[in-house]
Amino acid sequence: MPFPQRHLLGVEDLAPEAILQLLDRADGYVEMNREARKKRDILKGLTQINLFFESSTRTQMSFELAGKRLGADVMNMPVKSSSLSKGETLIDTAMTLNAMRPDLLVVRHADSGAVNLLAQKVNCAVVNAGDGRREHPTQALLDALTIRRRKGRLHRLNVAICGDILHSRVARSNMWLLGKLENRIRVIAPPTLLPTGIERFGVEVFEDMEQGLEGCDVVMMLRLQLERMSGAFVPSVREYFHRYGLNAEKLARAKEDVIVMHPGPMNRGVEIDSELADDINRSVIQEQVEMGVAVRMAVLETLAERLPNWRGAGALA
Ligand code: CP
Repeated sequence: MPFPQRHLLGVEDLAPEAILQLLDRADGYVEMNREARKKRDILKGLTQINLFFESSTRTQMSFELAGKRLGADVMNMPVKSSSLSKGETLIDTAMTLNAMRPDLLVVRHADSGAVNLLAQKVNCAVVNAGDGRREHPTQALLDALTIRRRKGRLHRLNVAICGDILHSRVARSNMWLLGKLENRIRVIAPPTLLPTGIERFGVEVFEDMEQGLEGCDVVMMLRLQLERMSGAFVPSVREYFHRYGLNAEKLARAKEDVIVMHPGPMNRGVEIDSELADDINRSVIQEQVEMGVAVRMAVLETLAERLPNWRGAGALA
């Protein structure tokens, strides 16, 4: 079945079949990335531009690796030294890049909806690499792939998403994705870090972390996004860690084979105990990073196949 969308702007509009199609393809790339020779010609001749208006390590690097491993020409636009610093608007920048005829544009922006707006102005395929508080679709896909490979399934799992739900695009994309695949999702957070209307995601809400973790298969911790906070959302970082930081004692309420996730970057001793973050029996944080490259390869290939100038894998090889 052809992938139904020209761009990947979020998970909200993806059908379960489309999600599983991307994960199945990514599974193959996990194996390829573990081989000594990692390069293919699938996207040879195509141009990918990464446009990151917000800082990033994992997402930007893995999109660059993903494009290069598939044989695309990959450019990273240096936003700070671009004409944006001279007052050029986001849309004018997008239209300027569009005139250079890229095939794939990967965009991260601090404003919710900015990537959707940009996608309306260009002819190429656009991937949302995280927009404001709205969505981070490839993060949810790589989280889903990590869970499926560890748990052997991606449905009927008890998943707790804990921490700064209010400012988190990762939480939103994960709530959409895991909800569509019939998992039971709990969010655990202080009331100040919960968005209004959280009920529409069909999640259970817990203020008490130990209650919320009871019987969980997966615990997903979120970074306290201090850079998005204007004012005091938590009494102090120390108090926050005491009530909402994950440590071995609190985790003992979850199932014995629970896995601990974090999208990164993580603040050790703020949302997660440092020793637990490095516990290879329970923490899958590094595995999430590995899955990120495979998922992004799957996304780039899938969107490339929908381009009007697509002539088949490696057609220009
Ligand atoms: N998870 C995530 O988006 O990390 P980066 O901000 O480092 O890309």
